[in-house]
Order: sequence, then C-alpha cells, then structure tokens
Amino acid sequence: MFDLLATNATLPDGRTADIAVKDGTIAAVEPGITAAAGETIDATGCLVSPPFVDPHFHMDATLSLGIPRLNRSGTLLEGIALWGELKPTLTVEAIVERALRYCDLAVAQGIGAIRTHADISEPRLVTVEALLEVKARIADYIDLQIVAFPQDGYFRAPGGEAAMARAIDMGVDVVGGIPHFERTMADGARSVEALCRIAADKGLPVDMHCDETDDPHSRHVETLAAETVRFGLHGRVAGSHLASMHSMDDYYVSKLIPLMAEAELHAIPNPLINITLQGRHDGYPKRRGMTRVPELMAAGLNVAFGGDCVMDPWYSLGNADMLEVAHMAVHVAQMTSPAAMRQAFDAVTVNPARAMGLDGYGLAPGAKADFVVLQARDPVEAIRLKATRLAVVRRGEVIARTAPRVATLALKDRPATVDPAAYAPPLDS
Ligand code: FE2
Repeated sequence: MFDLLATNATLPDGRTADIAVKDGTIAAVEPGITAAAGETIDATGCLVSPPFVDPHFHMDATLSLGIPRLNRSGTLLEGIALWGELKPTLTVEAIVERALRYCDLAVAQGIGAIRTHADISEPRLVTVEALLEVKARIADYIDLQIVAFPQDGYFRAPGGEAAMARAIDMGVDVVGGIPHFERTMADGARSVEALCRIAADKGLPVDMHCDETDDPHSRHVETLAAETVRFGLHGRVAGSHLASMHSMDDYYVSKLIPLMAEAELHAIPNPLINITLQGRHDGYPKRRGMTRVPELMAAGLNVAFGGDCVMDPWYSLGNADMLEVAHMAVHVAQMTSPAAMRQAFDAVTVNPARAMGLDGYGLAPGAKADFVVLQARDPVEAIRLKATRLAVVRRGEVIARTAPRVATLALKDRPATVDPAAYAPPLDS
C-alpha cells in the first residue's frame, strides 16, 4: 500500500508513468501501477515535474516595495541606494514576517528550494539572523540556502571582511561576493581571490554576484574561474548575473567560456531583472544585458535561472513564478526552438538543483517525493501558459492546490468553456 499515487503523469522527458510514494520517498515511477494508495491524484494529461528551484533570490528585501520610497530611475544603483536607506531600519521580526509571506507564495507556485542572498553590509547582521530563523521555520516545505552577500563591497564597505567571518560563524551556507562593485578592478579581483580562499578553508560553496554591469571590461568572471581552479573548487562555484558577458567582444568570450567550463562554474542569470536593469545607460539600440545563455549551455556549463527580486527596491513586479522567469529567458535569449524551450524548463528545475547541490532531487525511485502537477501537457506548454500548479507535493503530502484555470464562455455556437491547456497542438521537436 502506497501513501500517494499520481497516475498517468506526463514526465518532463515525455514519458507517461504513475508515480508511487511511500514514507516521503518515491517508490516507483512506471506505467500501470495497480497497488492501492492512501491518496490518488489523477494526473492524466498533466505534466508532473520535480519542484521549481530558485537559485538566486533576495529574501531579506522581498515584499519591501515602496519602503521608504519607490525606485524612481529604475536603475540597479538607485535600488542599492534605496536598500541602503532601508537597511538601518530593518528588524529581525519584519524580515521574518515578509520572508514567510513570500514563502507561502513560493510554495503555492511549486518552488521547493531557494538560494537566498543575505546582505551582510548591514552591521547588525539582522538579515542573517532573520533568514537563519526563516530557514528553520520553513524547513518542512522549502529547502533554503543562505549566501553571505557583501552588497556594499567586501573591501569597499567598512567592516566587510569581519562581517563575512561573523556570518560564516552564524551558519550561512555559501560565500558570496560582488567584485564589480569594489572600488577598482584590482580590488574586485583581490576580493574574488580572498573569498574563494575563505570558501576553500571553510569547505563552503561560492556564489558571487559577478559582473552585473554592461561594462564589457568587467571581467571578474575570468578571475572567478581561475581562482576556482587554483583552490580546487570545481563544481562548487556559481557566477550570478554575468551580465557583462552580453557586452564583451566575441573573440574574448571565445577564450573565456572554455575557462569557465574548465572550472565547472554554474552560471546563474536572472532574466526578469537583467532585462529590467541592464542597458539603462544606453541610448538606442539598448542592450538586453542577459548573459550568453545558449552559448554557455552549448559549452556544457550548467545554466540555472534565478528569480532574484519580487517587489523590492530593484523590481516592483514578480510573483514567485519560475515559469515566468523561464518565459522571459526564452524571449531575451531567443531560445525559441522546442529543444531550447525544454532547456529553459530545465534551467528552473534540474539545473538549479544541481547548482545548489540538492540531495534526492528528481522524479526517480529513491528520490524525495517532491513534485508539482501542472495544468500543461509538456514543458513548452508549461512555459507558454505559466501553467497553473494544480497540486504541489512535498515528501508525499499535498501542501498546496490551485483550481484549474478554465474560463466559461457565453457565445453563440461556441464551446461553453476554454481550458488554456487543451486547445493548442503540441510542438514537434
Ligand atoms: Fe541578486
């Protein structure tokens, strides 16, 4: 007797199977399972995916939109300045309350794991204290990793080095950085070296905001790749944003991408935010500013898309919807072939799970029984529709449900209802 059975599910790879769960673990994934189950979900015609994973988020700032005022220019730098005004007034209680509300939304949207940056430029480290509390309180429904993120610069901000040491002692999971925000290119390179050394000493992974700028000469990703190799951190280092790669010349990039591949860097662009914040200093034509996703994928790098911001000083929109993130990436990177759109779906599921080193992730026997039932027939349709999350399952329990999206029509000689997932022909590969 199984605890839960999802029948007739369409898996992301196109197979149709039943998914049986016992004791919080996937017991079987195969067609025609006949054993009884405590609860059965009829997933006929539905894509069933492992949970969405957001590998780059700022949970200390989320839902703070308008406090103390809105970002008038819309730029990254005004966002940082605005956040700087808000920081001295932050309390642990306020951050926890906003973060928990965000996590309610994230669960409803099928997110099962988040890597959040915690700004350690706030000298009281209330961000770290609050997010450690949040991590414990949401452990039953979201796996949270916390990055110690020196927003105002590891060397540039007073006390940056000491704050990183304190944050690590408090129990953060990942060492962050922001080399392009240091005073000079040389300081930026020095910060990459220092932070990779700390990560190697402490046995922690690295995830840096790296080259979030349209300046093609911002080449800290080159240093990040080199220091990753020098400290033997292969596969444990992520470069977030990498926006300057959009503006670099192709000849230099032809050297850079193999160095990144050698270091097994994870690349984490944030499509909604990159297309919103980059190119702000341009006239026309305006650069898109997202890193070179298809080229990085073609070179074998693991590319994962992050959400980055929801209703905060940098971005007034967002809905914890990783399908919206993938949808934007498809457009900005022109990843419109069926194969490329399926890669975009991977970039909000399996790829970020790999970047975060999640254990037991995936739809396979022995994995944790975490999955999402979507009102879509395949990954491409899921992205197209930003599909409704009909059921969200965590360790074999349904923890969120949303009613199917169906419109009723009052039209002469036309159908009575429209189901957005039921009328388009599937795409061929
Ligand atoms: Fe970020």
